[in-house]
Amino acid sequence: MTGELKADAWVATALGDPTKVLERQQVEVRPPGPNEVRVQVSTFCVNFNDTDIVRGRWSIVPLQPPFTPGMEAMGVVESAGPGAEHLVGRRIVGIPAGAHGGFAEWAVVDATSAMLIPDWMDDVDGAALHYPFHLSWFALFERARLQPGETVLVHAGAGGVGSAAIQLAKHRGAKVIATAGSPEKLDLCRELGADEVVNYRDGGFAQAVMDATYQTGVDVALDSVGGAVTTETFGSMGMNGRHLIVGYASDITNDGQPLPVQPAIYGNFSLCGVCLAYAPDPLATRLSTGLNWPSRSEGLESHRRIIELLRTGEVRTVVTSTVGFDDLPEAMERQERRETMGRTVVRLH
Ligand SMILES: NC(=O)c1ccc[n+]([C@@H]2O[C@H](COP(=O)([O-])OP(=O)(O)OC[C@H]3O[C@@H](n4cnc5c(N)ncnc54)[C@H](OP(=O)(O)O)[C@@H]3O)[C@@H](O)[C@H]2O)c1
Repeated sequence: MTGELKADAWVATALGDPTKVLERQQVEVRPPGPNEVRVQVSTFCVNFNDTDIVRGRWSIVPLQPPFTPGMEAMGVVESAGPGAEHLVGRRIVGIPAGAHGGFAEWAVVDATSAMLIPDWMDDVDGAALHYPFHLSWFALFERARLQPGETVLVHAGAGGVGSAAIQLAKHRGAKVIATAGSPEKLDLCRELGADEVVNYRDGGFAQAVMDATYQTGVDVALDSVGGAVTTETFGSMGMNGRHLIVGYASDITNDGQPLPVQPAIYGNFSLCGVCLAYAPDPLATRLSTGLNWPSRSEGLESHRRIIELLRTGEVRTVVTSTVGFDDLPEAMERQERRETMGRTVVRLH
């Protein structure tokens, strides 16, 4: 098929609460353009970024309603534009063009992001490996250059990204301190290999981190929470530490104030921004958008190594719930209410 297709989709009719603004509609899904593929979506994950987008907190590429959100899609490639024909008929997981459009039966996916899923892996695990493992790999190993024997603080360690980060850091030979918001979540962090766990909803974590590091602070912090957790993390960083700013599930600011950067000066640690998308030509992306993205070939190499770790059982996807397409808005809100662990996977069929 080469023309437009009709698809059942969730459409953001306004910016706000997912259960209020998402509406089920039939949408037209265009044919794939150059370096794009059209995918029959089987599964995708509930990803906090989509909540940020639907709530209008997405500042880098703000979307105006109505639009179909969804920045992940797993399925079979039905058709391809020029340059992506080799992917037709293959099972892939990837990022829809423009980082939205995945909450639908059909999605146009940027072929630069398309990663093949091997036959032995089902569509639930294929969806679940995507952002957690690719983002954590890029953050820990490329941005932070994590070394064996270093200590890593992983915030929201029982979440989608956190649960992968704990496992990858342990695999690299690091000591892991994980924070999470409930006893059940702390148990999961321990089961995934965390050496120390801290419930940061009971109060601060800085003292526990200093005790666990003999008062020296951590080498690396993976911070997807933001707000007060970020400012408290500043005080937990060791000499030459790397504080990875990955997300802001709690707050993008410091209680409404700009984040202070002086702690990085006096603490001699680095603030490392992390944005994961792969570029066909990083220089072209840099010149056209001003953004620095790693190349597709780097993404393919990370994928090969992640798949091998999953195949040998050294790491595992963490899927705690699968839900039907009808239940997507409520699943997004459960994640926002901090009730989820690992990945919630949405199945379309
Ligand atoms: N930089 C990138 O390229 C990129 C790409 C994808 C995702 N991300 C980011 O990565 C982060 C993790 O995404 P995810 O989908 O895996 O989410 P998640 O970790 O499954 O869910 C978010 C977790 O954050 C914690 N949290 C702390 N304060 C919170 C608050 N006020 N409201 C809601 N949650 C709070 C909760 O865990 P506790 O209850 O244990 O605190 C919650 O479970 C998000 O910030 C997302 O935006 C970044």
